[in-house]
Amino acid sequence: MKIFIDSGDIKEVQKYLSWGICDGVTTNPSIMLKSGATSKAEAKELQIAIAKLISPRPLSVEVTTDNPEEMLQQAHDFVTWAPNIMVKITITDRQGGSMLPVIHQLAAEGIAVNVTAIMTMNQAMLAAIALENGRKVASKPAPFNHIISIFGGRISEEHGVDIASRILMEVREWLDLHKMQTEIIVGSVRTPENMDSWSTTGAHILTIPPDVLAKSQLSGRTKETVVQFLQDAAKALGALK
Ligand code: E4P
Repeated sequence: MKIFIDSGDIKEVQKYLSWGICDGVTTNPSIMLKSGATSKAEAKELQIAIAKLISPRPLSVEVTTDNPEEMLQQAHDFVTWAPNIMVKITITDRQGGSMLPVIHQLAAEGIAVNVTAIMTMNQAMLAAIALENGRKVASKPAPFNHIISIFGGRISEEHGVDIASRILMEVREWLDLHKMQTEIIVGSVRTPENMDSWSTTGAHILTIPPDVLAKSQLSGRTKETVVQFLQDAAKALGALK
């Protein structure tokens, strides 16, 4: 399993790179807004800086429109920014219209696609089939396996954590059964408990916000143990004098 950092905060990304636990980064328009990018130019500058920093690991950059023509234009632009960019496309537009034609076309062009905002098994299957069929006819290989982003947190908010876990497990089983190369990212991870629950579903990647990652490595008993070790080390060193 891989961990991606779900953030546009370059300092946080740098921190988790130095911990050796950053296999990639995911962004979306909300994340870019939170990171202080208030224009397209600022978002682009920051995303290029992150792509360089984490290279050769992938950075997902999401389109900022749900118009299919504009999606394609933006996708073609994003991939010129750096060789390690994946393009994020929502599974439908705001009215529920299918974005599968865009997803399929980009995959057929050999662009690495991250299909996002997936909440159901059916959406996951349709996205994976469109991606795989695009991959099979692509004139050049995509730089990374395509991804489907299943929003564990948002599914849990509506149906509970267990339903989110069940969907993740069923999608992984189905991808394996049909020998699909597409990988699952679990998105909208809200808590360390979510990390724990969804790390055993077979999802290939968990994308985790920095604050959740920071909390995930804490335990009161570990701190207490470290204090004990240091106190005993000081005593032992004192006794040696
Ligand atoms: C990841 O790629 C997603 O964009 C992200 O995890 C969405 O999370 P949210 O539910 O907090 O918006």
